[in-house]
Amino acid sequence: MKNKGLFITFEGIEGCGKTTQMNLLSDYLKKEGFSVLKTREPGGTRIGEKIRDILLNPDNKKMAKETEILLYGASRTQHIEEIIKPALKSGKIVLCDRYTDSTLAYQGFGRNMGISFIKRACRLSLGTIQPDLTILLDLDVKAGLDRIKNRKGGNDRIEKEKIAFHNRVRKGYLKLAKASRERIKIVKADKEIDEIQKEIKDIVIRKLYRKK
Ligand SMILES: Nc1ncnc2c1ncn2[C@@H]1O[C@H](COP(=O)(O)OP(=O)(O)OP(=O)(O)O)[C@@H](O)[C@H]1O
Ligand SMILES: [Mg+2]
Repeated sequence: MKNKGLFITFEGIEGCGKTTQMNLLSDYLKKEGFSVLKTREPGGTRIGEKIRDILLNPDNKKMAKETEILLYGASRTQHIEEIIKPALKSGKIVLCDRYTDSTLAYQGFGRNMGISFIKRACRLSLGTIQPDLTILLDLDVKAGLDRIKNRKGGNDRIEKEKIAFHNRVRKGYLKLAKASRERIKIVKADKEIDEIQKEIKDIVIRKLYRKK
């Protein structure tokens, strides 16, 4: 009954509550006796970290956007092969903080890169693995940024440009959800933490028992 893997990703704009909700769900599932793996890219893989160093190295300013997408994809592939696939195979529930929908929403919609190139790159990097379920926490951009403004160092005024960028990301996420209704479930994130968690639990339980 409890030995079939399930791959769940958490998505949404900054400060929407992904990490908070993922941790609560993990605690709940563990209490119910499931084996859970929490992860996020590059997931602690040595090769993934090396790719990340290339991506973050200021010497690489000349990097083409396409190169960037492909390197993120390569890091993802390593994460899938080394961490995610073995965990699913051993029957774990894998919870991942951000995944390909982030690439599509941020690079594609936020930075207005060609969506078809990113989709192809994501499809390649995913291989045969797709999340079984994606929880999209939808929140007003200003509210999300307000929640994390202390973490980001001070109470700096959020510029219009930044808001516009995050609004494109939010709209992009909603578009993606519309195109994949079966996989991506939108959960409104402007509520109490416990109330949101209850909704997420209901969705996950439905998915778990439909999969058996
Ligand atoms: N429903 C909520 N209502 C009010 N505050 C919340 C809610 N959910 C989370 N928070 C708080 O908002 C902040 C951001 O939450 P969290 O770190 O979970 O967001 P996130 O989506 O993971 O952000 P990031 O994209 O930056 O990783 C935290 O301080 C958290 O305690
Ligand atoms: Mg987080």
